[in-house]
Amino acid sequence: MNKKFRLPGVLIGIAVGAVVANAAPLPYLNDSIDIEVRVEDALARLTLEEKIAMIHAQSKFTSPGVPRLGIPDLAVSDGPQGVREELLWDKWDVAGQTNDSCTAYPALMSVAASWNRDIAALYGKSIGEEFRQRNKDVALTPGINIYRHPLCGRNFEYMGEDPYLAGILAAEAVKGIQSNGVAACVKHFALNNQEIDRHKVNVVVSERALHEIYLEGFRRAIVDGGAWTVMGAYNKYRNQFCTHNEYLNKILKTDWKFDGVLMSDWGGTEDTHQAIFNGLDLEFGTYTDGLSSGKSNAYDNYYLANPYLALIKSGVVGTAELDDKVRRILRLCFRTNMNRNRGFGSRNSAQHSADALAIQQEGIVLLKNEGDILPIDKSRFHRILVVGENADFCLTKYGGSSGVKARYEVMPIDAIRKIAGNDVKIEYRKGYTSDWPRNTQVEDSLRIDALKAADKADLIVFIGGHNKHPCHDCESYDRGSTKAPYRQDELLVELLKAKAPLVLVTMGANQFDMPYSGKITAMLHAWYGGSESGTALAQVLFGEVNPSGKLPVTFYRQLDECGAIAMGEYPGDGKNVSYNEDIFVGYRYVDKYNVKPQFHFGHGLSYTKFRYGQPVADKMKILSGDTIKIVMPVTNIGRRSGKEVVQLYVQDEKASVPRPVKELKGFVKLNLAPGETRNAVFCITARDLSFYDETSRSWKAEPGVFKLLIGASSLDIKRSLSISLM
Ligand code: GLC
Repeated sequence: MNKKFRLPGVLIGIAVGAVVANAAPLPYLNDSIDIEVRVEDALARLTLEEKIAMIHAQSKFTSPGVPRLGIPDLAVSDGPQGVREELLWDKWDVAGQTNDSCTAYPALMSVAASWNRDIAALYGKSIGEEFRQRNKDVALTPGINIYRHPLCGRNFEYMGEDPYLAGILAAEAVKGIQSNGVAACVKHFALNNQEIDRHKVNVVVSERALHEIYLEGFRRAIVDGGAWTVMGAYNKYRNQFCTHNEYLNKILKTDWKFDGVLMSDWGGTEDTHQAIFNGLDLEFGTYTDGLSSGKSNAYDNYYLANPYLALIKSGVVGTAELDDKVRRILRLCFRTNMNRNRGFGSRNSAQHSADALAIQQEGIVLLKNEGDILPIDKSRFHRILVVGENADFCLTKYGGSSGVKARYEVMPIDAIRKIAGNDVKIEYRKGYTSDWPRNTQVEDSLRIDALKAADKADLIVFIGGHNKHPCHDCESYDRGSTKAPYRQDELLVELLKAKAPLVLVTMGANQFDMPYSGKITAMLHAWYGGSESGTALAQVLFGEVNPSGKLPVTFYRQLDECGAIAMGEYPGDGKNVSYNEDIFVGYRYVDKYNVKPQFHFGHGLSYTKFRYGQPVADKMKILSGDTIKIVMPVTNIGRRSGKEVVQLYVQDEKASVPRPVKELKGFVKLNLAPGETRNAVFCITARDLSFYDETSRSWKAEPGVFKLLIGASSLDIKRSLSISLM
């Protein structure tokens, strides 16, 4: 029998391999071709069931890919202060892993208080690397809901009261996060400005306030920042849940041309038809579809799961909407977990510690500094008493979904002791406690103990404020009042009777009512500073760092100075909440009604002094398509380097509608050596002069005279110049 000549199998394998290797990969797998071509090719290969699977969760924080086609699952994770520890597949319980700690970054209020685009970009890049290293494709940050009033439990997670500041900085953070091939997720879209009744309250607000105040930050983060995902808010607007809201969806996807994924908040989906037709692309959640809390792995019951599949199979609805959702998810995959060019990230690195420190150094705000008592002069003070629970208290955990398992957190008292060295004797007394249940005997003894120690001190540094406990700065809860928590008032009033001057440091989304503030010599606000919170605070206290933060929010003397409380409704009647203050939020209300808050929006001092020169504009009249360039020289006239945030506000002298006295439309942070002069350069267009016109449903700038107000805060206006819009 003639023996057939057989090629050794290995040669056949090589031959086939050579052919396959040279063959162009399947279009959707070919990352050298246009992403939209890949999307269409992948979509065409999917079965109906695969498409339905992709648009809803398969676990707490993942949604399925398509193993048959090599499309991986999508993994998402919280949160704004760091990549959250691993949770169980189908439960909110932590998985108890030992390798999922993270660098805790400063809260977004601290990022906002930096008023520094580069700091916001650094936050995004750095935190994005940690999400990437943990193989998370979507980082559920930044949150940018407007700080409408001081009681919202999640203000600390957001970026303040002004949409321009929040939007500009959020856009930088988004670009930073996404530079890692990790999607940012701008949340909570929209009008999630309170935690009370957050799952059901219907917000009643004018279209003008909606666009000018509550959507403008989102617009910038999405249109300018290019966010790849957005998270719908739990609450309602126009009596529809924001998760699948016809009106908001049109703005997001038609007006703003958002090509990414709109995902629900966890359990925020309430109706299959609305989810199908009002733009919800990806459903995450807990016990969705009215499931009992006991049902596990019930993901096929989700609104966008079997109920949707059944409607399609029965011919009640078509598949056009489904294909649009899947296109967006495929696009997200090609931008993230199917993007071979993205880096590998890093976590808990020395660089990330340095990043967190750099951010917090610029977020701390020096509010008051009588007699320049700060920075602390070690040759002047020899016995410093540090008082307050927040000097030695974990503030990176808790607070809800933004809480993290930080690899470490430097406590203020430890950093103060380290920086003081042997030159200064540092005593610490807790002074008050947030322990629960309350025990007045223990509390009284802590206070008395601190008061005794105060008599021997020549300087008192009080480190207090809020923490992440429920009803303080914590998701799902609002604060009950703006009064000092944990009887800090009683302690402070007594400490202020001591001979030693008192420096107050507060943590949290804001301060608390302080009728005795006149007796306090110096004040700093440090928000929540993350892993390097203590280091940054000690460096500022002792002058290694010159504070340069500015308030991204108004600090009121008392609650009724806030427009939302004085004019608006809060928290509403359980069904509706009306934002009657309309566009007059924060400093816009303060200016209009001549309120005298404790500290104004944009306020923040330095250890040096700055002199403002004369602004020069390249033109004084503009047409709607023009840009005015304003150059504002600023000089550091002090003896140490410092950073100044030069702010530009626009004032419409005469308008057909009520307008705020002024609105922030520019800010530049200058780093100046002693004696150095640099220019803050602003570019103003007609869009910056516009208001949202409800009649034409568009932005409108009315011809006339506008004042450009330039200063160091919304109160401290240094220079002004008038321009005309023709
Ligand atoms: C929460 C929060 C949201 C968070 C999500 C996942 O309810 O509202 O900000 O990202 O669920 O934890």
